[in-house]
Amino acid sequence: MKKTVLTLSLVAAATMSAFAADDPVATRKALMQANGGAAGVAAGLMKGDIEYNPAVGKNAITALYAVSQTFGDYFPDGSDMAADTKASSKIWEDAAGWQAELDKFASASAAAVEASGRSGPADLDAFKAAVGPVLGSCRSCHEGYQTR
Ligand code: HEC
Repeated sequence: MKKTVLTLSLVAAATMSAFAADDPVATRKALMQANGGAAGVAAGLMKGDIEYNPAVGKNAITALYAVSQTFGDYFPDGSDMAADTKASSKIWEDAAGWQAELDKFASASAAAVEASGRSGPADLDAFKAAVGPVLGSCRSCHEGYQTR
């Protein structure tokens, strides 16, 4: 439990410092690291490594939702040429397909927030049902738009 809270606050700190740097590539990567942190918490809950707690479940979902609201803003033209990016040039070549993946991520996250209610998904099954489509959106976007 303590570990989870620490992870989430580290993630928030990393995200904030990237915003301060005003660097779109660093910012989008920090946002994705926040996604990785929240998805790690979700996986820990689902595997039973972290005892299920509705507030922790809601925290993970809220963090994913927050990323989904801003991530798409950090892909200015030409930022596929940065040395340290894994963003595929397809993001700029297939803007409609990219937007569809952003929308899928945002709508799955919004639905998960909605399903969380005020105090978080009541039990692990409710959590899995809420977060599953969000985690599915990670994979489909990475397959199409992240280079390896
Ligand atoms: C709409 C597309 C999209 C979605 C949805 C998405 N990602 Fe990503 N992700 C990317 C792209 C593009 C990059 C590469 C960014 C770069 O290197 O500039 C990336 C990079 C990453 C990275 C590496 C960050 C780094 O420091 O290099 C992690 C970790 C990650 N994503 C996790 C996730 C997780 C977990 C989810 C789901 C909760 C998710 N992503 C959802 C597009 C997406």
